[in-house]
Amino acid sequence: MLEDDFIIQRKPDKKRSILARVQNTWRKDLPGKLNQKLIQMIGLLSMKLGGDTYASDGMLLWGREIGWIEDHILIKSISKVKPVKNELRICWRTHVLCWAAKQAINSEGDFFEFGCFKGFSAAVVRHYCGSEFNKQGSRNYFWFDLFQTSDTQKIGNPLDFCDAESIAISRASLFEDIKIIKGDIRETYLNNNLYSDKKIAFAHFDLNNIDVEIQIIDYVMQRVTSGSVIVFDDFAMSPFSKQNREYYKFFRKLSIPILELPTGQGVVIIP
Ligand SMILES: C[S@@+](CC[C@H](N)C(=O)[O-])C[C@H]1O[C@@H](n2cnc3c(N)ncnc32)[C@H](O)[C@@H]1O
Repeated sequence: MLEDDFIIQRKPDKKRSILARVQNTWRKDLPGKLNQKLIQMIGLLSMKLGGDTYASDGMLLWGREIGWIEDHILIKSISKVKPVKNELRICWRTHVLCWAAKQAINSEGDFFEFGCFKGFSAAVVRHYCGSEFNKQGSRNYFWFDLFQTSDTQKIGNPLDFCDAESIAISRASLFEDIKIIKGDIRETYLNNNLYSDKKIAFAHFDLNNIDVEIQIIDYVMQRVTSGSVIVFDDFAMSPFSKQNREYYKFFRKLSIPILELPTGQGVVIIP
């Protein structure tokens, strides 16, 4: 399935792979031919540098052991979600998210997706957690989104919302415990104690806007339980430098360390 979006080459020893996304976006204006040339060059370089190579989602890695591509539950979960345009690009981030969700699964509380868009990441997470997700019987996965351009989304690529809500609904419909909450999150979460009072085991922040996220994290930190996990999607992404500064500042004050990953994500585990 990864083959739909990646060029996957096996190295001569057959154990090592080169995964390069066909449509890498390191330069949007890069002509197709140059893009192809770069992929060829990465392939050649990778033969010399050893290990697995990965080129996607702003990462160019070599000399690695890419184990997650052999995680059959992850690959099956991604394929069940039927990725649409560009979604496979973030499969390494999705691996991190699934790991984080599994860490949180035994903690008390619900799961929260702040900014679900088409529901790709959250749906993969839900499939990945399987029946363990609801072994306590009453857990929900709340997906928040406005499903249209918001005055709060000023940074990052403009999103195309034409089918976002219908795709999210269809992905959510496979699970009774997923609830989509449509609207501006400042109203639907911050000003709505039906949701903001709930205990939290897992939260994924992906609103592309630090000013709103920082208001939410204040609430979230009062509702997280021991062992819960929070993932910040844009923590170390270059257009979101304010995110990085603000979250470091926020968690330093609480003496909770934040893990910065090459995927651009930040991860916090609540003691
Ligand atoms: C990058 S997308 C989320 C992608 C999704 N988490 C995934 O991994 O597939 C950011 C989303 O945040 C939503 N968003 C931004 N500001 C919002 C707000 N104030 N209220 C509700 N949703 C908002 C946008 O509508 C958009 O769908």
